[in-house]
Amino acid sequence: MDELASLAGNWGYPTSIRFGAGRIRELPETCRELGIGRPLLVTDPGLAALPMVADAVAACEEAGLGCAVFSDVRGNPVEANVLDGVAALRAGDHDGVIAFGGGSALDAGKAVALMVGQARPMWDFEDREDWWTRVDEAGMVPVVAVPTTSGTGSETGRASAITDTRGDHVKRIIFHPAMMPGRAILDPELTVGLPAPLTAAVGMDALSHCLEAFSSPVFHPLAQGIALEGMRLVREALPDAVADGADLAARARMQVAASMGSTAFQKGLGAMHSLSHPCGSVLDTHHGLTNAVVMPYVLDFNRPAIEDRMAAVARYLDLPSPSFAAVLDWVLALRERIGIPHTLKDIGVDESDARRLAPMAAEDPSSPTNPVPLDAANLEALYLRAINGAL
Ligand SMILES: [Fe+2]
Repeated sequence: MDELASLAGNWGYPTSIRFGAGRIRELPETCRELGIGRPLLVTDPGLAALPMVADAVAACEEAGLGCAVFSDVRGNPVEANVLDGVAALRAGDHDGVIAFGGGSALDAGKAVALMVGQARPMWDFEDREDWWTRVDEAGMVPVVAVPTTSGTGSETGRASAITDTRGDHVKRIIFHPAMMPGRAILDPELTVGLPAPLTAAVGMDALSHCLEAFSSPVFHPLAQGIALEGMRLVREALPDAVADGADLAARARMQVAASMGSTAFQKGLGAMHSLSHPCGSVLDTHHGLTNAVVMPYVLDFNRPAIEDRMAAVARYLDLPSPSFAAVLDWVLALRERIGIPHTLKDIGVDESDARRLAPMAAEDPSSPTNPVPLDAANLEALYLRAINGAL
């Protein structure tokens, strides 16, 4: 009976996805499928100035959809961005959200669509125990997600990462199953303009999702298979996507890998994200870049618990030997090839930060599913290793 109980789970699989070059042209009919007549397009200020956003708005207007843009969303979005978006949605009498952009814009857009229908404060819906059951689902509005980077996979995720600026700037995960966007449009042409360093960083975020999900001890065979194939796509496509941003075939593979990563991490994440979230919320480091930097240190820390699993990864990825060492070597070589720094010090995290960030990492919702149990002491040691390059 105990074994059977451990095999139980709540599985939600991704949403309806329109995948392919040029499919952003289907945005208006995709809105209509969800009953959206007056979408609010939520994006970030950088994207709002680009033709792709103007084109999306024009396409909606030509199709008779009243569309406005809300772009007051910062990287590592904060509660005020969400509340301002809710105000814009109400002021314009919008009945749905087009979440358009990288992880920050997608997460903010999804949170706006959630919060427009709630009487409780947003922090009441943090991803803890059964807090999601407090949500008034009837008040939510539908979301079409349009990712323009290939990393976070928020378009196929049921949560938003929002930074709580009260006190110590903790990045909190706001969760509800219905936050899964009703539709996603994956058009690799939208990712062509992403600069090489960002392509590398967000691609490594996708890889970290697959690696951490695959390493998590939670029973979820569907996610396990998706994580493995997601890693294979990253191996096949990330170096090409970084080397030539106009390589649409590589861009397309990375876009799917990103969606697969977030689908897989319904199985849980681990110490890469536990370490990365406090760096992002306190020091404003880039999420994907931080995961990429800490990746080999976390793999090595977890080694006693994941040797067999990494051997399976090595076999599937056709690495030189079916071993943990082969996976670690591949990760190190990939990082070097695409220009990822080797230490946290290189991206502005100092030894003096380790003690302050470690308790926050221990409290992070990613920590319980790391294959080796985490606490503030071993996370502080792991921070110091990653800061000093002690591998
Ligand atoms: Fe991530």
